[in-house]
Amino acid sequence: MTERKPVLEIEHLSVAYDSPRGPVQAVNDVSLAIYEEEIVGLVGESGSGKSTMAYAIMRLLKGVAYVTGGSIKINGKDVYGLSKQELRAFRWAEMAMVFQSAMSALNPVMTVEQQIADTIRSHQKNASSAEIRKRAEELLDLVRIDRKHLKSYPHQLSGGMKQRVVIAIAICLKPSLVIMDEPTTALDVVVQRSILDQIQEIQREVKFAILFISHDFSLVSELASRVAIMYAGRVVELAGSRRLRVAGEHHPYTEGLLRAIPRLTADDVVIEGIPGNPPNLVELPSGCAFHPRCAHATERCAVEEPRLQKTGQAEIACHLFQGREVPQHV
Ligand SMILES: Nc1ncnc2c1ncn2[C@@H]1O[C@H](COP(=O)(O)OP(=O)(O)OP(=O)(O)O)[C@@H](O)[C@H]1O
Ligand SMILES: [Mg+2]
Repeated sequence: MTERKPVLEIEHLSVAYDSPRGPVQAVNDVSLAIYEEEIVGLVGESGSGKSTMAYAIMRLLKGVAYVTGGSIKINGKDVYGLSKQELRAFRWAEMAMVFQSAMSALNPVMTVEQQIADTIRSHQKNASSAEIRKRAEELLDLVRIDRKHLKSYPHQLSGGMKQRVVIAIAICLKPSLVIMDEPTTALDVVVQRSILDQIQEIQREVKFAILFISHDFSLVSELASRVAIMYAGRVVELAGSRRLRVAGEHHPYTEGLLRAIPRLTADDVVIEGIPGNPPNLVELPSGCAFHPRCAHATERCAVEEPRLQKTGQAEIACHLFQGREVPQHV
């Protein structure tokens, strides 16, 4: 087997927001690598730090948000070591993002073609109109939108079509990493399914790596080969998605997420939530941030923060697993 190259390498990334009540540690010592053409999921409750991490990777944090530690490399290049000019050339060409509010990201007074052209011209100043038209047509074919919509304005498109246009723009300069932040959350279930299938198809054809962010655990585990579970700014478990679909030896928070998925095949469907609420990031609980909600918590959990460590084929940050091998599933 040839060695896979990492596209994204995050090491010990921490991000904080200044707030009147003190710094909010939204991302806390996260390390994660994504390899060529791999789809990795990032799952966690609202407020767990998923979008903050995405913005940090794209170097788009503004105002009160700032990186407090760690490093991010894309294709071996330190994202925070790039000059402003280099960053401009880097964004969209090597890393691109489909934003959480993607559909409103389209400019209402520009046609689809103009918006694609804008992105291409921002990187290839001398591209001719004919070249741009050809590329825009190819992109619409790829996301299965009739070419006649090159002349359409966003309001003339359905929600699903707008989302496809946003994806087309994200991949128009052939980046090697695309971050998709809740790309289908605003859509109904049927459209959501067709877009997911399409993302998989396009990804196989064009070949890029994806960091796919969602709070929907079952959706992510279907799409991604590996999934990182985030809780209160930390990755608490990183495992293959096949392994994650099997209940077994997981971080107690992951177990909670698994129990919260309705199973259509079960006779008596009991959906259990996770007791308690996500913590206030200004005053994180001591030790393991999950311990006040955890049925297995011991005294140690209240004082000592568990580190993410390899346990069998997964990485889990939990004292329950320290020093022992987790049996391998499937
Ligand atoms: N502008 C801000 N000022 C202060 N704190 C912020 C700001 N934006 C976000 N935060 C804090 O950062 C944390 C992480 O927010 P983030 O948007 O990254 O979460 P998320 O996992 O993407 O949530 P969601 O699933 O709702 O999109 C939140 O808990 C919030 O308290
Ligand atoms: Mg978010």
